[in-house]
Amino acid sequence: MMTERTNERPRTDAGQRTHALRLEAVTKVYGKNDRGVRALDGVSVDIARGSFTAVMGPSGSGKSTFLHCAAGLDKPSSGKAWIGDTELGGMNETQLTKLRRQRIGFVFQAFNLIPSLSVRQNVDLPLRLAGERLDGQWLEQILHRVGLDGRAGHRPSELSGGQQQRVAIARALITRPDVIFGDEPTGALDTVTAKEILSLLRSCVDETGQTVVMVTHDPVAASYADTVLFLADGRIADRMHAPTADRVADRMTHLGAWA
Ligand SMILES: Nc1ncnc2c1ncn2[C@@H]1O[C@H](COP(=O)(O)OP(=O)(O)OP(=O)(O)O)[C@@H](O)[C@H]1O
Ligand SMILES: [Mg+2]
Repeated sequence: MMTERTNERPRTDAGQRTHALRLEAVTKVYGKNDRGVRALDGVSVDIARGSFTAVMGPSGSGKSTFLHCAAGLDKPSSGKAWIGDTELGGMNETQLTKLRRQRIGFVFQAFNLIPSLSVRQNVDLPLRLAGERLDGQWLEQILHRVGLDGRAGHRPSELSGGQQQRVAIARALITRPDVIFGDEPTGALDTVTAKEILSLLRSCVDETGQTVVMVTHDPVAASYADTVLFLADGRIADRMHAPTADRVADRMTHLGAWA
């Protein structure tokens, strides 16, 4: 088990900050009629700018669906979602794509790198897709930040799992997103490497004021967050501020997650 982060940073009053994202009565039903699956059931939440939120809950509780609806990757069946002051429901596919490219970064459990491209090419892909010019200095800065100095010319297969996830994080950061979403970003990593990735995500919040929302099954990973949201059956069953791994594990047991 990796050691827990000590939780000693000064906290600003969340009430004084504006929200980075917001869900209001979001319901998502997959399929139709009586065979439909209610993946989210009236979820409302406000997530402050410059905060780190972990989303936990049993398998099938709606965590990925929550991320997808919050990030405009999936449309709620009812309810509304905002990124900053932008309401996603009013946008068409082109506008949504643009918003995702400019304001949102994603990191998944599977790193989703393109094997035939170098680290540099993988990282600047979002810019090329957006038709934007690459700022070489910014790329170097990002690679330095994630600890990949001197690796720009390597292929993903020449890197360790942790290094590959750093490439994925660099790719998420290259567009200077407001919000970084992670769906079990440390799920495929050993505990030491996971800790490095979590510290990196933490630094996005503490040093650059970005907002991180991360799904995880691991109470230790959740202890890096400011707040944990617990989902059960598509609803927010509970939330915990200043989480510790022990308290999170205890709460998960009571949610029946590990029964
Ligand atoms: N595209 C889809 N079509 C039909 N049902 C879906 C679809 N995506 C998710 N579901 C269902 O919605 C519910 C919530 O799924 P979701 O993937 O959000 O859960 P999760 O909490 O992320 O689970 P896990 O921890 O296993 O990743 C599940 O019952 C799932 O089977
Ligand atoms: Mg999931």
